[in-house]
Amino acid sequence: MKSRIDKLLASNGFGSRRDIKRMLKSRAFLVNGAAVVDPGTVVDSETDSFSWEGKAFKPREKAYLMLNKPSGVVTSTSDPGHDTVMDLLAEPWSLMDLHPVGRLDIDTEGLLLLTNDGPLTHRLTSPKTGVDKTYEARLRDPVGQSAFEEYRAAFGRGVTFHDGYTTLPAKLDLPSNGDADGPNAVQSGAFPRDAVLLTVQEGKYHQVKKMFKTVGNEVIALRRISMGPVRLDRALPPGGYRELSESEIRALRLAVGNDAPVDGESAP
Ligand code: URA
Repeated sequence: MKSRIDKLLASNGFGSRRDIKRMLKSRAFLVNGAAVVDPGTVVDSETDSFSWEGKAFKPREKAYLMLNKPSGVVTSTSDPGHDTVMDLLAEPWSLMDLHPVGRLDIDTEGLLLLTNDGPLTHRLTSPKTGVDKTYEARLRDPVGQSAFEEYRAAFGRGVTFHDGYTTLPAKLDLPSNGDADGPNAVQSGAFPRDAVLLTVQEGKYHQVKKMFKTVGNEVIALRRISMGPVRLDRALPPGGYRELSESEIRALRLAVGNDAPVDGESAP
């Protein structure tokens, strides 16, 4: 993968761009045996060889983050009118050309993956290989048991939007205590319930909100709690993020039928 050397080094923990400029100037960093001093030099992390202060160095190219998206920011890499999820990231992540995996509405909270692994993003979001996504939806009209069963049957069959599109079968559940926290907190217990879990296989525009509209209700708050095998880390505050663990990355790859080794790991 080709990139500017200052970006590559920033994403490998060499400090800010200013630190890196200083470090390159000191001729401590060699590419293919020659000192590189220009921070704008384009290198290829797959084919070039790197050494720092005399030691061989294998740069990491890929990054995988889990963000607890807050309400009020758009899922985009740039936007003329709003802050984006990218504005929440500090260096080195902000320098890494990450992109969101799929999309959450501006008012939706919860799990959003960010990566620069294009093929994995494609597989996770493709209708053919995509993974299940579970949302906690708070409803305008709390549901009694019979409405819950009615919704469950309708979503299980697939519901039809105004434009004629019929959704794939989706699964309605009740949250357990473990699903509830934060501002959308859901109490478990008897009906009526004002919050439910919906697991969908696809990611159409306003999918969950539109599904509840077809059964005469309205989503008033929405939070994604899982995507395939990855669950939102409850320790992350809104706007917080962390790197995915190697086992989470491997599980995601397995879920989409691509269990290539994690970047930097040797094949088993
Ligand atoms: N469905 C919605 O309606 N909104 C989202 O943000 C995600 C799924």
